[in-house]
Amino acid sequence: MGGLIYFSAVRCADAHQINYMETVSAPAKIILLGEHAVVYGQPSLAVPLSSLRTYAEIVNLPKGSGLKVVAADLNNQEFYVNSASQEIDSPLFTAAWLLLNHLDCPPPDATITLHSDIPIASGMGSGAAITTALFRALLLALNQSLSSEKLNALAYEVEKIHHGTPSGIDNTVIVFEQPIYFVRGQPIERLTIGKPFVLLVGNTGIGSSTKSVVSDVRTLYEANVEFITEKFNSIGELVRSGRKAIELGDHLNLGKIMYDNHQFLQEISVSSPSLDMLVDAARTSGALGAKLSGAGRGGNMIALVSPDKAPTIKNALLEAGAVQVYQTIVGK
Ligand code: MEV
Repeated sequence: MGGLIYFSAVRCADAHQINYMETVSAPAKIILLGEHAVVYGQPSLAVPLSSLRTYAEIVNLPKGSGLKVVAADLNNQEFYVNSASQEIDSPLFTAAWLLLNHLDCPPPDATITLHSDIPIASGMGSGAAITTALFRALLLALNQSLSSEKLNALAYEVEKIHHGTPSGIDNTVIVFEQPIYFVRGQPIERLTIGKPFVLLVGNTGIGSSTKSVVSDVRTLYEANVEFITEKFNSIGELVRSGRKAIELGDHLNLGKIMYDNHQFLQEISVSSPSLDMLVDAARTSGALGAKLSGAGRGGNMIALVSPDKAPTIKNALLEAGAVQVYQTIVGK
Protein backbone atom coordinates (compact mmCIF):
# COMPACT_ATOMS: atom_id res chain seq x y z
CA MET A 1 0.00 0.00 0.00
CA GLY A 2 2.15 2.88 -1.13
CA GLY A 3 2.37 5.81 -3.52
CA LEU A 4 -0.53 7.44 -5.21
CA ILE A 5 -4.07 6.37 -4.55
CA TYR A 6 -6.39 6.11 -7.54
CA PHE A 7 -10.12 5.67 -7.48
CA SER A 8 -12.19 4.36 -10.34
CA ALA A 9 -14.35 6.66 -12.36
CA VAL A 10 -17.46 5.12 -10.81
CA ARG A 11 -19.31 7.98 -9.22
CA CYS A 12 -20.72 7.14 -5.83
CA ALA A 13 -23.89 8.92 -4.92
CA ASP A 14 -23.43 12.11 -2.96
CA ALA A 15 -27.03 12.53 -1.97
CA HIS A 16 -26.94 14.97 0.89
CA GLN A 17 -27.64 18.62 0.73
CA ILE A 18 -24.73 21.07 1.15
CA ASN A 19 -23.90 22.04 4.75
CA TYR A 20 -26.21 19.31 5.99
CA MET A 21 -24.79 17.97 9.23
CA GLU A 22 -25.18 14.47 10.66
CA THR A 23 -23.45 12.57 13.44
CA VAL A 24 -22.67 8.85 13.71
CA SER A 25 -20.82 7.06 16.49
CA ALA A 26 -19.30 3.88 17.89
CA PRO A 27 -19.01 2.69 21.52
CA ALA A 28 -16.13 1.77 23.82
CA LYS A 29 -15.71 -1.86 24.84
CA ILE A 30 -14.85 -3.80 27.96
CA ILE A 31 -13.30 -7.27 27.99
CA LEU A 32 -14.91 -9.21 30.84
CA LEU A 33 -12.70 -12.31 30.66
CA GLY A 34 -10.09 -13.88 28.41
CA GLU A 35 -7.86 -11.11 27.04
CA HIS A 36 -4.50 -12.21 25.61
CA ALA A 37 -5.47 -15.90 25.65
CA VAL A 38 -8.00 -14.93 22.93
CA VAL A 39 -5.11 -14.10 20.59
CA TYR A 40 -4.08 -17.79 20.86
CA GLY A 41 -7.50 -19.27 20.10
CA GLN A 42 -9.11 -19.30 23.54
CA PRO A 43 -12.59 -17.78 23.99
CA SER A 44 -13.16 -14.34 25.47
CA LEU A 45 -16.17 -12.33 26.65
CA ALA A 46 -16.67 -8.67 25.86
CA VAL A 47 -19.42 -6.09 26.17
CA PRO A 48 -19.90 -2.65 24.61
CA LEU A 49 -19.84 0.40 26.85
CA SER A 50 -22.52 2.36 25.06
CA SER A 51 -22.37 5.45 27.28
CA LEU A 52 -18.77 6.16 26.24
CA ARG A 53 -18.40 6.78 22.49
CA THR A 54 -16.47 8.19 19.57
CA TYR A 55 -18.53 10.59 17.42
CA ALA A 56 -18.02 11.54 13.79
CA GLU A 57 -19.78 14.64 12.53
CA ILE A 58 -20.25 14.94 8.78
CA VAL A 59 -20.78 18.26 7.02
CA ASN A 60 -21.42 17.97 3.29
CA LEU A 61 -19.55 20.48 1.12
CA PRO A 62 -19.99 21.71 -2.47
CA LYS A 63 -18.81 19.40 -5.26
CA GLY A 64 -15.06 19.45 -5.81
CA SER A 65 -14.26 20.36 -2.18
CA GLY A 66 -12.79 16.92 -1.42
CA LEU A 67 -12.66 15.21 1.92
CA LYS A 68 -11.19 16.75 5.03
CA VAL A 69 -10.84 14.63 8.18
CA VAL A 70 -10.24 16.44 11.46
CA ALA A 71 -9.48 14.76 14.75
CA ALA A 72 -8.67 17.64 17.06
CA ASP A 73 -8.58 15.59 20.26
CA LEU A 74 -6.55 12.79 18.66
CA ASN A 75 -3.11 14.38 18.44
CA ASN A 76 -4.59 17.15 16.32
CA GLN A 77 -4.65 14.99 13.22
CA GLU A 78 -6.04 16.72 10.16
CA PHE A 79 -5.68 15.61 6.56
CA TYR A 80 -7.28 15.83 3.14
CA VAL A 81 -8.09 12.92 0.87
CA ASN A 82 -8.54 13.67 -2.81
CA SER A 83 -8.50 11.46 -5.87
CA ALA A 84 -4.68 11.35 -6.01
CA SER A 85 -3.63 11.69 -2.38
CA GLN A 86 -0.15 10.65 -1.32
CA GLU A 87 -0.24 8.06 1.41
CA ILE A 88 0.41 9.57 4.83
CA ASP A 89 1.34 7.81 8.03
CA SER A 90 -1.92 8.14 9.93
CA PRO A 91 -4.24 5.41 11.19
CA LEU A 92 -7.21 7.51 10.13
CA PHE A 93 -5.89 8.06 6.64
CA THR A 94 -5.24 4.34 6.25
CA ALA A 95 -8.78 3.57 7.42
CA ALA A 96 -10.34 6.11 5.04
CA TRP A 97 -8.23 4.80 2.17
CA LEU A 98 -9.20 1.21 2.88
CA LEU A 99 -12.93 1.90 2.90
CA LEU A 100 -12.91 4.13 -0.20
CA ASN A 101 -10.98 1.49 -2.11
CA HIS A 102 -13.32 -1.23 -0.96
CA LEU A 103 -16.31 0.79 -2.16
CA ASP A 104 -14.42 1.92 -5.25
CA CYS A 105 -15.64 5.43 -4.52
CA PRO A 106 -13.78 8.72 -4.72
CA PRO A 107 -13.63 10.70 -1.48
CA PRO A 108 -16.94 12.43 -0.70
CA ASP A 109 -17.09 16.23 -0.63
CA ALA A 110 -17.34 16.61 3.10
CA THR A 111 -15.63 17.48 6.35
CA ILE A 112 -15.63 14.69 8.91
CA THR A 113 -14.79 15.75 12.46
CA LEU A 114 -14.04 13.09 15.04
CA HIS A 115 -14.44 13.54 18.81
CA SER A 116 -13.72 10.73 21.19
CA ASP A 117 -14.87 10.46 24.80
CA ILE A 118 -13.03 7.12 25.07
CA PRO A 119 -9.66 7.42 26.82
CA ILE A 120 -6.87 6.52 24.37
CA ALA A 121 -4.53 3.57 25.12
CA SER A 122 -6.71 2.52 28.04
CA GLY A 123 -7.94 -0.93 26.99
CA MET A 124 -11.36 0.37 25.96
CA GLY A 125 -10.98 -0.07 22.22
CA SER A 126 -10.58 3.61 21.33
CA GLY A 127 -8.73 2.72 18.09
CA ALA A 128 -11.44 0.37 16.83
CA ALA A 129 -14.17 2.84 17.84
CA ILE A 130 -12.48 5.67 15.93
CA THR A 131 -12.11 3.47 12.83
CA THR A 132 -15.75 2.36 13.05
CA ALA A 133 -17.08 5.90 13.51
CA LEU A 134 -14.99 7.12 10.57
CA PHE A 135 -16.27 4.25 8.38
CA ARG A 136 -19.87 5.05 9.30
CA ALA A 137 -19.32 8.73 8.50
CA LEU A 138 -17.80 7.96 5.10
CA LEU A 139 -20.64 5.58 4.26
CA LEU A 140 -23.20 8.21 5.15
CA ALA A 141 -21.44 10.94 3.18
CA LEU A 142 -21.29 8.62 0.16
CA ASN A 143 -24.86 7.40 0.62
CA GLN A 144 -23.53 3.83 0.70
CA SER A 145 -24.20 0.97 3.07
CA LEU A 146 -22.29 -2.13 4.16
CA SER A 147 -23.33 -5.07 6.30
CA SER A 148 -21.97 -5.13 9.86
CA GLU A 149 -20.02 -8.27 8.87
CA LYS A 150 -18.24 -6.41 6.06
CA LEU A 151 -17.67 -3.30 8.19
CA ASN A 152 -16.20 -5.54 10.89
CA ALA A 153 -13.90 -7.28 8.41
CA LEU A 154 -12.59 -3.91 7.20
CA ALA A 155 -12.16 -2.61 10.77
CA TYR A 156 -10.16 -5.78 11.51
CA GLU A 157 -7.84 -4.97 8.59
CA VAL A 158 -7.13 -1.58 10.17
CA GLU A 159 -6.57 -3.21 13.59
CA LYS A 160 -4.05 -5.58 11.99
CA ILE A 161 -2.12 -2.68 10.49
CA HIS A 162 -1.87 -0.94 13.85
CA HIS A 163 -1.80 -3.75 16.39
CA GLY A 164 0.19 -6.52 14.75
CA THR A 165 -1.68 -9.73 15.63
CA PRO A 166 -5.03 -8.71 17.14
CA SER A 167 -7.66 -11.36 17.81
CA GLY A 168 -10.42 -9.18 16.33
CA ILE A 169 -12.45 -9.03 19.53
CA ASP A 170 -12.22 -5.22 19.88
CA ASN A 171 -13.58 -4.37 16.43
CA THR A 172 -16.23 -7.12 16.66
CA VAL A 173 -17.81 -6.01 19.95
CA ILE A 174 -17.62 -2.37 18.83
CA VAL A 175 -19.12 -2.83 15.36
CA PHE A 176 -21.94 -5.15 16.54
CA GLU A 177 -22.42 -3.28 19.86
CA GLN A 178 -23.59 -6.45 21.60
CA PRO A 179 -22.25 -8.64 24.42
CA ILE A 180 -20.24 -11.39 22.71
CA TYR A 181 -18.59 -14.76 23.29
CA PHE A 182 -15.71 -14.56 20.87
CA VAL A 183 -13.35 -17.16 19.50
CA ARG A 184 -10.89 -15.96 16.89
CA GLY A 185 -11.88 -17.05 13.38
CA GLN A 186 -15.24 -18.50 14.45
CA PRO A 187 -18.75 -17.09 13.96
CA ILE A 188 -19.65 -14.55 16.64
CA GLU A 189 -21.87 -15.85 19.43
CA ARG A 190 -24.10 -13.48 21.34
CA LEU A 191 -23.58 -13.58 25.09
CA THR A 192 -26.86 -13.84 27.00
CA ILE A 193 -26.92 -11.93 30.26
CA GLY A 194 -29.17 -13.85 32.70
CA LYS A 195 -29.33 -11.04 35.25
CA PRO A 196 -27.93 -7.50 34.81
CA PHE A 197 -24.81 -6.73 36.81
CA VAL A 198 -23.00 -3.57 37.87
CA LEU A 199 -19.41 -2.95 36.82
CA LEU A 200 -17.06 -0.22 37.92
CA VAL A 201 -14.35 0.61 35.42
CA GLY A 202 -11.31 2.11 37.11
CA ASN A 203 -8.81 3.97 34.96
CA THR A 204 -5.17 3.88 36.15
CA GLY A 205 -4.49 6.97 34.01
CA ILE A 206 -1.45 5.16 32.62
CA GLY A 207 -1.46 4.75 28.84
CA SER A 208 -0.48 1.37 27.47
CA SER A 209 0.16 0.24 23.91
CA THR A 210 -1.84 -2.89 23.04
CA LYS A 211 0.64 -3.66 20.28
CA SER A 212 3.67 -3.71 22.59
CA VAL A 213 1.95 -5.68 25.38
CA VAL A 214 0.66 -8.26 22.87
CA SER A 215 4.16 -8.47 21.38
CA ASP A 216 5.75 -8.96 24.85
CA VAL A 217 3.29 -11.79 25.53
CA ARG A 218 4.30 -13.33 22.19
CA THR A 219 7.99 -13.22 23.25
CA LEU A 220 7.12 -14.83 26.60
CA TYR A 221 5.03 -17.47 24.82
CA GLU A 222 7.78 -18.32 22.34
CA ALA A 223 10.29 -18.73 25.16
CA ASN A 224 7.98 -20.94 27.28
CA VAL A 225 5.40 -22.46 24.93
CA GLU A 226 4.20 -25.23 27.27
CA PHE A 227 4.03 -23.10 30.41
CA ILE A 228 2.19 -20.21 28.75
CA THR A 229 -0.13 -22.54 26.81
CA GLU A 230 -1.17 -24.02 30.16
CA LYS A 231 -1.99 -20.52 31.43
CA PHE A 232 -4.00 -19.76 28.30
CA ASN A 233 -5.87 -23.08 28.61
CA SER A 234 -6.73 -22.25 32.23
CA ILE A 235 -7.97 -18.81 31.17
CA GLY A 236 -10.08 -20.48 28.46
CA GLU A 237 -11.67 -22.71 31.13
CA LEU A 238 -12.45 -19.66 33.24
CA VAL A 239 -14.10 -17.96 30.26
CA ARG A 240 -16.35 -20.97 29.59
CA SER A 241 -17.34 -21.08 33.29
CA GLY A 242 -17.78 -17.30 33.30
CA ARG A 243 -20.15 -17.52 30.36
CA LYS A 244 -22.30 -20.01 32.27
CA ALA A 245 -22.23 -17.83 35.39
CA ILE A 246 -23.35 -14.80 33.34
CA GLU A 247 -26.13 -16.78 31.67
CA LEU A 248 -27.34 -18.06 35.03
CA GLY A 249 -27.01 -14.67 36.74
CA ASP A 250 -24.57 -16.22 39.24
CA HIS A 251 -22.65 -13.08 40.16
CA LEU A 252 -20.84 -14.64 43.13
CA ASN A 253 -19.24 -17.23 40.90
CA LEU A 254 -18.54 -14.70 38.14
CA GLY A 255 -16.70 -12.55 40.70
CA LYS A 256 -14.46 -15.45 41.77
CA ILE A 257 -13.70 -16.21 38.14
CA MET A 258 -12.67 -12.60 37.57
CA TYR A 259 -10.20 -12.68 40.47
CA ASP A 260 -8.77 -15.96 39.16
CA ASN A 261 -8.46 -14.52 35.66
CA HIS A 262 -6.55 -11.53 37.07
CA GLN A 263 -4.11 -13.89 38.75
CA PHE A 264 -3.35 -15.64 35.46
CA LEU A 265 -2.88 -12.25 33.81
CA GLN A 266 -0.36 -11.38 36.54
CA GLU A 267 1.43 -14.65 35.82
CA ILE A 268 1.82 -13.78 32.15
CA SER A 269 3.20 -10.40 33.27
CA VAL A 270 0.56 -8.07 31.84
CA SER A 271 -0.58 -6.56 35.11
CA SER A 272 1.18 -3.63 36.78
CA PRO A 273 1.53 -2.21 40.30
CA SER A 274 -1.23 0.35 39.68
CA LEU A 275 -3.63 -2.26 38.27
CA ASP A 276 -2.88 -4.62 41.17
CA MET A 277 -3.49 -1.80 43.65
CA LEU A 278 -6.91 -1.10 42.15
CA VAL A 279 -7.84 -4.79 42.07
CA ASP A 280 -6.77 -5.14 45.73
CA ALA A 281 -8.73 -2.02 46.69
CA ALA A 282 -11.81 -3.47 45.00
CA ARG A 283 -11.36 -6.78 46.83
CA THR A 284 -10.85 -5.26 50.29
CA SER A 285 -13.78 -2.87 49.88
CA GLY A 286 -16.20 -5.70 49.06
CA ALA A 287 -16.25 -6.20 45.27
CA LEU A 288 -17.49 -9.61 44.12
CA GLY A 289 -14.68 -9.76 41.59
CA ALA A 290 -12.07 -7.59 39.86
CA LYS A 291 -9.41 -7.85 37.18
CA LEU A 292 -7.52 -5.81 34.66
CA SER A 293 -9.39 -5.38 31.37
CA GLY A 294 -7.82 -5.13 27.91
CA ALA A 295 -4.12 -5.36 27.17
CA GLY A 296 -2.96 -4.44 30.69
CA ARG A 297 0.24 -2.75 32.02
CA GLY A 298 -1.93 0.34 32.45
CA GLY A 299 -5.35 1.31 31.15
CA ASN A 300 -8.39 0.03 32.98
CA MET A 301 -9.51 -2.56 35.49
CA ILE A 302 -13.08 -3.66 36.14
CA ALA A 303 -14.83 -4.55 39.39
CA LEU A 304 -18.08 -6.50 39.70
CA VAL A 305 -20.06 -4.94 42.54
CA SER A 306 -23.44 -5.26 44.19
CA PRO A 307 -25.40 -2.01 43.62
CA ASP A 308 -25.50 -1.08 47.33
CA LYS A 309 -21.70 -1.32 47.64
CA ALA A 310 -20.94 0.58 44.42
CA PRO A 311 -20.37 4.03 46.05
CA THR A 312 -18.00 2.60 48.72
CA ILE A 313 -16.00 0.60 46.19
CA LYS A 314 -15.87 3.55 43.81
CA ASN A 315 -14.35 5.69 46.60
CA ALA A 316 -11.87 2.95 47.45
CA LEU A 317 -10.75 2.84 43.80
CA LEU A 318 -10.31 6.61 43.70
CA GLU A 319 -8.33 6.53 46.95
CA ALA A 320 -6.14 3.75 45.54
CA GLY A 321 -5.18 5.96 42.58
CA ALA A 322 -7.86 5.58 39.90
CA VAL A 323 -8.05 8.82 37.90
CA GLN A 324 -11.62 8.06 36.82
CA VAL A 325 -14.23 5.47 37.70
CA TYR A 326 -17.17 4.77 35.36
CA GLN A 327 -20.18 2.84 36.53
CA THR A 328 -22.19 0.77 34.07
CA ILE A 329 -24.89 -1.86 34.17
CA VAL A 330 -24.30 -4.79 31.85
CA GLY A 331 -27.38 -6.46 30.39
CA LYS A 332 -29.96 -3.81 31.10
C1 MEV B 1 -7.09 -5.97 23.68
O1 MEV B 1 -8.28 -5.25 23.91
C2 MEV B 1 -7.33 -7.44 23.88
C3 MEV B 1 -6.12 -8.32 23.68
O2 MEV B 1 -6.53 -9.67 23.93
C4 MEV B 1 -5.57 -8.22 22.27
C5 MEV B 1 -6.49 -8.82 21.23
O3 MEV B 1 -7.36 -9.62 21.54
O4 MEV B 1 -6.29 -8.48 20.07
C6 MEV B 1 -4.99 -8.00 24.65
